[in-house]
Amino acid sequence: MKVLVIGGGGREHALVWKIAQSPLVTEIFCAPGNPGIASLAKCVNLEVDDLHGLLAFAKDGSMDLTVVGPELPLTLGIVDLFQKEGLAVFGPDKSAARLEGSKAFCKEMMVKCGVPTAAYGAFTDREEAVAFIRKHGAPIVVKADGLAAGKGVVVASTEDEAISAVDLCLLDEAFGDAGKMLIVESFLAGEEASFLAFTDGERIVPMASSQDHKPIFDDDKGPNTGGMGAYSPAPVVTDALHDEIIDTVFEPLVAGMAKEGCTYRGILYAGLMIDNGVVKVLEFNARFGDPETQPLLSRLKSDIVPVLMACASGSLEGIELEWHDKAAVCVVMASGGYPAAYEKGFEIKGLDEAAKIDDLVVFHAGTAEKDGRIVNTGGRVLGVTGLGTTVAEAIDKAYQGVRVIEWQGVQCRTDIGKKALGR
Ligand code: AMP
Ligand code: GLY
Repeated sequence: MKVLVIGGGGREHALVWKIAQSPLVTEIFCAPGNPGIASLAKCVNLEVDDLHGLLAFAKDGSMDLTVVGPELPLTLGIVDLFQKEGLAVFGPDKSAARLEGSKAFCKEMMVKCGVPTAAYGAFTDREEAVAFIRKHGAPIVVKADGLAAGKGVVVASTEDEAISAVDLCLLDEAFGDAGKMLIVESFLAGEEASFLAFTDGERIVPMASSQDHKPIFDDDKGPNTGGMGAYSPAPVVTDALHDEIIDTVFEPLVAGMAKEGCTYRGILYAGLMIDNGVVKVLEFNARFGDPETQPLLSRLKSDIVPVLMACASGSLEGIELEWHDKAAVCVVMASGGYPAAYEKGFEIKGLDEAAKIDDLVVFHAGTAEKDGRIVNTGGRVLGVTGLGTTVAEAIDKAYQGVRVIEWQGVQCRTDIGKKALGR
């Protein structure tokens, strides 16, 4: 089989790494890929939103399966385009990807399907949004409706801060069209977890639980990022909660999407807030999480390719996932200054030494090759992922890798996985 993976981050490196282990696969291509991916796949110089370029490449190269990593091509309708041409493609179509592309649509579906979530209002009018904020008081959360590269959410501790966020969206148009509508919702306290499941539109095949670390600094301080590290399994998701999440979140939503005529096929990611055993959904994403995918796929024992094919062809019947008993922890190493402006082009040292460590994989995200050297080019640069018998051992392994890698300005959190140790 020939497989094309779309994307070039740590998530796509983990997908390519896992797909490369499948005996079904003879050749892997990745667009645009990165230097880490290049050791496993042929990188193709096409951007993720070049839908027609990607379609031509998949058709001309007779790809047997295309796996879409990021949300942008999904919301632009890449799956619809490939399906029209009879190509097998993993991911939801444009109508189903609205779950991530529009927070208003996502909340509307949750309410329709009875999925537990925070109370909210959707607004295009400033005064109405302000009245809602004044009525409900702070803390309160303001979210741009559309895709905003993880920057569209403000958790406001005062009413004035929330109103500034409304003005930024609706008056200053800081997020362009993505912020023409916004959501204001109640603040939820608790501990976050990520729960991903494969679905063919009817059946649900859950992945193991995981937990991301969104804020840039230790102890969840500082601004939110794309995710500074993740681990799996996440003990905050007990066995009882696992079943409850399937029954009260995934089953009703997947059935509701089909009923609305926008059947969801692919991987469905629920961002959860868990407070004293009570689960509420913060958001749905229409793709694998990044960095959650790095620890999740490090622990997945089953061949992923038949699962991806089954979602693409519409039948997950008979598919079950097997997991390694080990825990996995991924520590993101980021450029200095991220998530604000950062300097690029510094040589990354220690990658060869890290490659010699057992039970450790260094997934590349924002890297490039320059004159035979690997340099940082993105905010999140590497996902150093360790396996261990326990989360504590996996933490030690991941940080053993982190200690041998360096470049000018590098930063990472030192407490990835710590919440699991407290449980
Ligand atoms: P979202 O993109 O909707 O997942 O929001 C990004 C982050 O903002 C989440 O991972 C949470 O840390 C935080 N957040 C979003 N909604 C809420 C909420 N209603 N209450 C508390 N924190 C929230
Ligand atoms: N790690 C958060 C996300 O993938 O959206």
